[in-house]
Amino acid sequence: MSEKRGSFSGKLGFVMAAAGSAVGLGNIWRFPYLAAEHGGGIFLLVYLILVLTFGYALMKAEIALGRKTGLSVIGAFKKLDQRWSFLGLLAALVPVLILPYYSVIGGWVCKYFFTFVSGGMPQTAEMAMVMTNDGLKETPVFFSNFTADPIEPLGWFLLFIGLTALVVLFGVDKGVEKVSKIMMPILIVLALSIAVYSLFLPGAMDGLAYYLIPDFSQFSATTVLAAMGQMFYSMSLAMGIMITYGSYMKKDVNLESSVKQIEMFDTGIAFMAGIMVILPIFSFGNLETISPGPGLMFNALPLVFNNMGVAGHFIGALFFLLVLFAALTSSISLMETVVSIFMDKFGWGRKLTCGVVFVISLVLGVPSSLGNGVWKDFTILGMDFLTFFDFMTNSVMMPLVALLTCVFIGFIIKPESIIEEARIGQNGKVGAFGRFRQETMFRAMIKYIAPVCIVLILLFSVMDAFNLLQYVGLSV
Ligand code: TRP
Repeated sequence: MSEKRGSFSGKLGFVMAAAGSAVGLGNIWRFPYLAAEHGGGIFLLVYLILVLTFGYALMKAEIALGRKTGLSVIGAFKKLDQRWSFLGLLAALVPVLILPYYSVIGGWVCKYFFTFVSGGMPQTAEMAMVMTNDGLKETPVFFSNFTADPIEPLGWFLLFIGLTALVVLFGVDKGVEKVSKIMMPILIVLALSIAVYSLFLPGAMDGLAYYLIPDFSQFSATTVLAAMGQMFYSMSLAMGIMITYGSYMKKDVNLESSVKQIEMFDTGIAFMAGIMVILPIFSFGNLETISPGPGLMFNALPLVFNNMGVAGHFIGALFFLLVLFAALTSSISLMETVVSIFMDKFGWGRKLTCGVVFVISLVLGVPSSLGNGVWKDFTILGMDFLTFFDFMTNSVMMPLVALLTCVFIGFIIKPESIIEEARIGQNGKVGAFGRFRQETMFRAMIKYIAPVCIVLILLFSVMDAFNLLQYVGLSV
């Protein structure tokens, strides 16, 4: 099997492919709404600290694990220590649960794209008086009306996941990779332009202050947990993807600088998305009238495009096309991961596996689609289905996988094995500080800092969920 294993042509190929997986709905849809929900600036600060410390160490470790073993997630852990194969399985379960609800949101993006293309922009920005917690308020209603419909969102969900399955069925050939090399740079330019435009909206500076200036009174364990979950999600960590990608990486590629570039790409897009989404809210209303949550991007951006006048039709359509594209490249690699896990595990053919994964995702996705509308009142731990799946994967399973991965590397195979792997391809051009960061800090991070922090955060958030924090004299 190892002879047939393909590999990325070089560093650029690797970085682009990894960034293509990382940049998706997580950056444009998820990051802004979490930032809005968790206090703006304080969330941004915690997120950045996590990306630069823990995220860096974990991504480096995952890629190195893959390159060292030449295997994907289940095989990699198994090869290094038979007793730890369960960790590979646990990590593999995460994309199975993410794919369905990811496709529901992908469906929403399809709907917006087609609405803009068919000249329906004014509808997307319709406002109406709606009863909120503090009285009647003028709020955008297009999104809530759309998701309240029991049938229509299901149709778009089916379209999105059908498209994804089709590509996976035919195999991810050069096509997707080539197209993403063209589309990703356009996405950056467009994101940059819309972000700059948002800066000049009236009242945007209040939004910018909220987004950039941390308010430490908003700091809590939930902020850190949410930021950490987002970091895993956005960087495609703690689910074995980077292990698989690492296994396709050539030995002469510089691992450290690849990680840096992927992080810059991913965080840059998320940062700009925050500006594009949060600023208009302050310009056209406030955070209470446009409730932060999964609908945030869908409510906020149409207001910006409408404000642009005629050009808005065009820019809006182009924007949603690119978001759709970013979402599709991510969902294709999510499904590809799930399909290859099933194929390896059960020895089925590609067609059969695609069919099975398609049906499972469809079944798991339906509650997430209905949960924003007709099944709104049905909640688990106070969350609708989509939010619940999102919470389970990002705030429970991924921290657990990350914790166990740290323990595995720190105490079973030892950090030295990762450090050695990362040194290959570096040509010895590392200064004293680089060495310190790459070795001493990495060791401390993986062995002690990260595991202790994850345990504390998990503990706090569980206590928070069950309202136990008051008994230990803390309130969040
Ligand atoms: N990182 C992707 C995003 O930001 C989502 C994602 C999570 C993903 N895990 C993945 C994509 C695995 C591809 C493969 O949207």
